Amino acid sequence: MNMDVVVSLCKRRGFIFQSSEIYGGTGSCWDYGPLGVELKNNVKRAWWRDNVHLRPDMVGLDASILMHPAVWKASGHLDHFTDPMVDCKACQRRFRDDTLEGLAWVHYCPATKGNRFTVAAGEPCGHCGARRTLCPECGKGELTPPRQFNLMFKTFMGPVEEDAAVAYLRPETAQGIFVNFENVLQAMRLKLPFGIAQIGKAFRNEITPGNFTFRSREFEQMEIEYFVNPQETRDGRPADEAIHEEWIAERFAWYQRYGIRPDNLRLREHAADELAHYAKRTADIEYRFPMGWSELEGIANRTDFDLRQHAKASGKALTYFDEERKTHVVPYVIEPSAGADRSVLAFLVDAYREEEVRGEKRVLLRLHRELAPLKIAVLPLLKKRPEIVALAQELRTRLARRWVTVYDDTAAIGRLYRRQDEVGTPYCLTVDVKTVGDQEKGEGGDGRVTVRDRDSMDQIRVPIAELETVFDRLLGEGDWAEVAAAYPRTTA
Ligand code: GLY
Repeated sequence: MNMDVVVSLCKRRGFIFQSSEIYGGTGSCWDYGPLGVELKNNVKRAWWRDNVHLRPDMVGLDASILMHPAVWKASGHLDHFTDPMVDCKACQRRFRDDTLEGLAWVHYCPATKGNRFTVAAGEPCGHCGARRTLCPECGKGELTPPRQFNLMFKTFMGPVEEDAAVAYLRPETAQGIFVNFENVLQAMRLKLPFGIAQIGKAFRNEITPGNFTFRSREFEQMEIEYFVNPQETRDGRPADEAIHEEWIAERFAWYQRYGIRPDNLRLREHAADELAHYAKRTADIEYRFPMGWSELEGIANRTDFDLRQHAKASGKALTYFDEERKTHVVPYVIEPSAGADRSVLAFLVDAYREEEVRGEKRVLLRLHRELAPLKIAVLPLLKKRPEIVALAQELRTRLARRWVTVYDDTAAIGRLYRRQDEVGTPYCLTVDVKTVGDQEKGEGGDGRVTVRDRDSMDQIRVPIAELETVFDRLLGEGDWAEVAAAYPRTTA
């Protein structure tokens, strides 16, 4: 599937817009629209509930984005969080050295009187056989030797713009957890192993951002730092290694729990030369995005690197007292680090379907009911019947207390259904003439509404008094077939 299809749906239906679009956009920053913010909140809420509220060994934290600059020296980010960059001496464009071979390149070919060609990535020119040596973008400029370029955004704290006031926007939320390790440990009286979770913004001045929200300069992380006693063993293995495996399995299963198809997920081990400066082992969960397999979440064993570095730099003991062994230990850290924006993108891509229904194309998002931005759409069959409209609006108000429920009467019913399918609304509820009856003809209503299931397009007639009970099950643990079996089907 093509990323453009998702980008277009996201813009058209209010999921994701380019930042500052009326000014031509800001490089690789994105704004979540009315439906996007609901979807993203639902992803974050599911993650928080599953990883914090449901686990007795986890607590949460919300640390600030701006931190003491010494944090980034101690963490190694000032010295090591860099990409090797080259600049074009003619057009001034900057490239990551390690991505150059993957770019198609512009070539003015001497064998064809200097004609301009675009040659495929990594290939020689088909006419003169030359390989790329110059800037791939303009085809004219020489490239500088690679230089290390730090990815952290720099700013100034306070009223003076001087070196002493330099601060950084955090490039990972993790450090907020490490520097609060002792605070959280003491306040919550925790016993190893335990974890601290955090969701928050992080910033990286990426030189080659792209692929929609996959790599952006401002992004949101969902990170866990899980602290383990390195003196313990599990099944004969060091506890950190065994617990690392457990987290990899748990996080791999999590995406599938919310609907990602297993075929579109895989694990990839980092090679030794690709490990971050703090990591002993990292496994990535990759998703088959439209541009190819790419990282959705990294699960690293950061050892005791960060706590030791901060203890050394701050002079504070960041240790845990092991009662059993009567010794102070520096915990090891297992870090499942997920991207909220990448997760949203993966859930969107995976949910996207095009089907043919009675000779017409139907686009739908088969989003998991917990992630769907809207849960119920209340639709009046006839806009010109005031009692139908009034009842539909009353039902929207009633159901909105429990679930995100919208009312829409801006098109005919068939089109209204299609619009809801396209944004993944699991259930539509229609108020029609049979519901309210016809006073002029002296006919009473049946007090039932039609409830339609997004995926099967099946419809049932449900008494208004039972709507809360039905949606409790449909939007909770129940499944459509089982709930629908208790009600008459309708095709109207
Ligand atoms: N904390 C790991 C990362 O940001 O990649």
